[in-house]
Amino acid sequence: MNVHTPKPTNAKPIDLASQNETTQMAAASKTVLDPRFYTTDFDKLDKTDVSGVREEWDTLIASMVSDPNKGHFKRNEAWDDIDLDSLDPALRAEFVDFLVASLTSEFSGCVLYKEMKRRGSNEDLKTLFSCMSRDEARHAGFINDSLKDFGIGVNLGFLTKAKKYTFFRPKFIFYATYLSEKIGYARYITIFRHLEKHPEKRFHPIFKWFKEWCNDEFSHGEAFSLLMRSDPKLLSGHNKLWIKFFLCAVYATMYVRDHARPEFHKALGIGIEDYDMRVFEITNEISKQCFPLVLDIDNPKFLKILRKLNAISVDMDQVRGKPGMVARLKRGKLLGASVVQFAQLYFMPSKKNVIPETSHMVPSW
Ligand SMILES: [Fe+2]
Ligand SMILES: [Fe+2]
Repeated sequence: MNVHTPKPTNAKPIDLASQNETTQMAAASKTVLDPRFYTTDFDKLDKTDVSGVREEWDTLIASMVSDPNKGHFKRNEAWDDIDLDSLDPALRAEFVDFLVASLTSEFSGCVLYKEMKRRGSNEDLKTLFSCMSRDEARHAGFINDSLKDFGIGVNLGFLTKAKKYTFFRPKFIFYATYLSEKIGYARYITIFRHLEKHPEKRFHPIFKWFKEWCNDEFSHGEAFSLLMRSDPKLLSGHNKLWIKFFLCAVYATMYVRDHARPEFHKALGIGIEDYDMRVFEITNEISKQCFPLVLDIDNPKFLKILRKLNAISVDMDQVRGKPGMVARLKRGKLLGASVVQFAQLYFMPSKKNVIPETSHMVPSW
């Protein structure tokens, strides 16, 4: 039998508050590209009324309450016991970075949803956020177990205290979280499908868990689509400008972050730009269920701008944290250049979308 058993020699749970400073700092760092922790106006959120989308809402919630992935996030015989020490050091570093970033992102969702459940009195929302925090806690725990194999124990309690919280009004939470759930689905399913075709590239067993995993993210996104659709104002008028802003910010951030992990993608046999474009394509398709516009990713200008933003980010890494006037001036110049590029991305014409009668979508990718 090929059942995975934790390797005592490798597993050295470390308290982040003491020994593992590098990982601690990586997980707690506050660069713009890092996954963030969010907080919101819980009273206002509590007033959300889903009666306009009641039928779809009840069907979705019933399926979430039934907990289809209850037994999924456990190691079983499909978990190949691989030799982590044989991984190339650069790949190992990028993979650990990928796991820590994913863990932070899953855990930040868990904390936010749990808080939404705790602070609310709206039964519809409480049921939803209880299911969602349950799922995200499972996801975070599963990644945390994988990190332990690398001798890294991320102290999640410490993370919630050390991370900066960003305040977002409920509607911004809806836009940002909807996109992050759906893009999360698109990312996981694209990797999963790729590795189905190229199993020899699967350098770690966690990728085998991605299919059911991303179905959780998909249904989380479905819920946010309904929350937004329950108040059509959120998807029309001047809010279209906000939706476009979030689309640009999320797509550009993903492109830049992925390009910072060349070894990881090389090991998977994935071309970063092709992968990102596929993820954008899927996310665009899905988001037509509720957004009144999609970004025109086929316009050659789109990739051109993303490439420039990435080049600026690479240059920024060279001068980040460096002392002295020259470095400061360079940082200012680069920041200005990134604002100009982002504005160009934002002002590129988008494609209009007519929001369909119903929101429901099947994860068919
Ligand atoms: Fe998740
Ligand atoms: Fe999620």
